[in-house]
Amino acid sequence: MGFLLAAVGSAVGLGNMWRFSATASQSGGAAFVVLYLLLTLIVGIPLLMAELSIGRKMRLSPISALRKAGGSGWVPLGYLFVASGFFILAFYSVIAGWALRLGLEAIFVGLPQDPAAHFGDISSGPFAAVFHLVFIALTVFVVSGGVKKGIERAATILMPALFIILVGLAVWAVSLDGAGEGYRFYLTPDISGIFDPQTIADAAGQTYFSLSLGMGALLTFASYLGKEHNLPRESSIIAAADFGVAFIAGLVVFPVIFALGFSHLIEGLAPGDAEGVLFIALPAAFDSMGVFGRAVAIAFFVALIVGALTSTISLLEVVVSSLMDETKIERKKLAYTMGAAIAVVGLAPAFDIQWLVRMNNWAGTLFLGIGAFATVVFVGWFMDDPVGELAVGAGTLTRKTLRLWYLLTKYVLPVITGTVLYFMIRNLFFSS
Ligand code: PHE
Repeated sequence: MGFLLAAVGSAVGLGNMWRFSATASQSGGAAFVVLYLLLTLIVGIPLLMAELSIGRKMRLSPISALRKAGGSGWVPLGYLFVASGFFILAFYSVIAGWALRLGLEAIFVGLPQDPAAHFGDISSGPFAAVFHLVFIALTVFVVSGGVKKGIERAATILMPALFIILVGLAVWAVSLDGAGEGYRFYLTPDISGIFDPQTIADAAGQTYFSLSLGMGALLTFASYLGKEHNLPRESSIIAAADFGVAFIAGLVVFPVIFALGFSHLIEGLAPGDAEGVLFIALPAAFDSMGVFGRAVAIAFFVALIVGALTSTISLLEVVVSSLMDETKIERKKLAYTMGAAIAVVGLAPAFDIQWLVRMNNWAGTLFLGIGAFATVVFVGWFMDDPVGELAVGAGTLTRKTLRLWYLLTKYVLPVITGTVLYFMIRNLFFSS
């Protein structure tokens, strides 16, 4: 697969849409958005470069790459990456299952009359489990060696389509009565929120999750990369595409939420309430668009499902490629057995949304927080000449600034990611 396509495909997914709108809702809106942008620039792009440098230099899957570059003391970090991929995929595919169901309903049934009640019906239970299983099966099929070419072709068309549909919806949302309240929530930060440890941890967690960082996903893709690739430049492109999709999704979701009378979702304080924000706001929006609505809904969900699939592929790929090199078991067998195990674990979040929240807090936030911190420490202090690796294929200007990247990675990022990790642990274990 083309590297940029695969990397953007991994990054852009439900994280940008479902998780971004849910987290922004719970975390106070605009202050979160500002921090998320800052952290994407200061931590996201440098960390992307760090992961890509390990992958391309070692040309191995995560566990083997860490062993070769740092010694066997780093092998446990590789296993943490595998665990992250395993557990994130287990709940992620439940959400992908919601999207799959809504997409199929848009095609064959129509749009829900009461989107909030409908979301309540489909989010948990036996049907949620079935759609979760279907999505895992699709992912396993691709990773076990099935249809990579087909996915590549679909993604080449549908990722830009997703972007264009979102931009169209964002423009349409401007015309809604009462949208102003939504823009205020999304775009007018209050300063005190920016210093709130919970908001900082949420924004950093979102940066990691959305960019697929802290679990070796981009490291895995980079292990196939040629020396002609300009890694700093490609890191910036990946981050820009990822941020762009999330930000524009917010420009759709928040005006719609306020204009169409769903603001209680955002004010609802129980964990689990905000998980449906995207999947309630969008069907409501499509419904109020009249005759066009259903066609837009179909196009949107098809694109979202492919976006989710390119992300689940990268999650399972980390698990399979790492274990392949460790155990010498063949790809197909590993894809089937790991896929089956993930499918079983995913039944918990499929039947109970509180399990989904929990797994997102643990694997989707804490594990990635540990992984990100350990990765910057590894690249800054233990890896041999990461600057030399990043300089290969980079232009002269970029090469001069790489020294800056190195100082940032060695001295500043361990402090930032370490502080974030401390906040994550505190929030998870000691918050009321
Ligand atoms: N980045 C993906 C998304 O935003 C999710 C993901 C996380 C994929 C970690 C791979 C690794 O949807």
